[in-house]
Amino acid sequence: MNEKVFADVTAVADDPILSLTGKFLADPRDCKVNLGVGMYLDETGVTPVLNVVRKAKEAIAKESTPHTYIPQTGFPLYDSLVQKLIFGVDSEVVTSGRACTVQTLGGTGALKLGCDLMHWACGLKLGATSIPTWTNHNDILRLAGYAVQGYRYYDAEQNAVNFEAMVEDLKALPENTLVILHACCHNPTGYDLTTDQWKEVIDICKARSLVPFLDMAYQGFKDGLDEDASTIRLFAQSGLSFLAASSFSKSFNLYGERIGALTVVTQSADEARRVQTHLKTCARANYSNPPAFGGRIVERVLADDALRSEWIEELSSMRNRIRQMREALTNEMKAIGAKRDFSFVTQQAGMFSFTGLTPEQVDRLAAEFGIYAVRNGRICICGLNEKNVGYVAKSFAAVL
Ligand code: LMR
Repeated sequence: MNEKVFADVTAVADDPILSLTGKFLADPRDCKVNLGVGMYLDETGVTPVLNVVRKAKEAIAKESTPHTYIPQTGFPLYDSLVQKLIFGVDSEVVTSGRACTVQTLGGTGALKLGCDLMHWACGLKLGATSIPTWTNHNDILRLAGYAVQGYRYYDAEQNAVNFEAMVEDLKALPENTLVILHACCHNPTGYDLTTDQWKEVIDICKARSLVPFLDMAYQGFKDGLDEDASTIRLFAQSGLSFLAASSFSKSFNLYGERIGALTVVTQSADEARRVQTHLKTCARANYSNPPAFGGRIVERVLADDALRSEWIEELSSMRNRIRQMREALTNEMKAIGAKRDFSFVTQQAGMFSFTGLTPEQVDRLAAEFGIYAVRNGRICICGLNEKNVGYVAKSFAAVL
């Protein structure tokens, strides 16, 4: 009998980010505010369906395409459009064919596939992530068979990147470490490296034979699509082999469709072809082939000049609303005369602000005010709007 098989299984903690949504929904208070999961909300508190997505969906519905399996690597057109989006149309990486891209289940799926590839096809065993990082990075690495080591990134006292410490830690990593880097809008801190600092990171990766894996879940949420891809483009020019995970959850508001991509940049078109065979195996062993719907939507928008321009407009209005809310929170905190200056919120980029609130303060916000945030002090700025920002600021001030 095997009745003991689960006897020693101990329960593990809920996901620190995703579990907040359930807690928020269960809270009966009208004043409640969800600053937890990174999901765009508009001024009325809903995640809008973008106009371009609505148009693409209508066109897809008319075609009534049968629900067959799609290729293990996704739609070929989608994959090539993603490459152009991240590297630029005329990039040597695109024209030389030395990169391969596969459609994945969101950015998380891209990270998992990339970690599997590097572990099973290339024998990598150690992954490195920033301290702090998106908590799931560490779990993805662990479940793909890696030991995980942190590199210092953020200095809480200075409320800034501690680049010296980061350099010291990266230089100490053994060769062939898979180093997860945030291409833009660092999650959770909202602080990115400067171009010169990225160049130094590239030099270290070269000197130490590290393998960079750039996570770019927020392209378009900092300064714009091309601007936010500038880091990936620096890596592309550097001659390094590297990986990049991209996601359209945020930039298309397609969270539930699980649509992203993994791009592997190699040294030659022949190498890319060989790598692609392993990616097919990794996809097959994880989920066979990706879901079709999100890929069809994104492909249609990116392939059509008019829809693409309209998407860029819609994306920039989401970006601008987030910026306005950063200003609004800072101003409200100032107007209240809060104990701490919150102007740092306007210096951070992307959906998040790392507030410095302690886990106890975050717990008080939930218990006393119905405001939900991640216990590491991260708030999702998208949960703020003109109606609730004053209440949030007052509540923050009360727990400081
Ligand atoms: C977040 O960090 O909140 C988002 O990336 C959503 C997630 O899956 O955690």
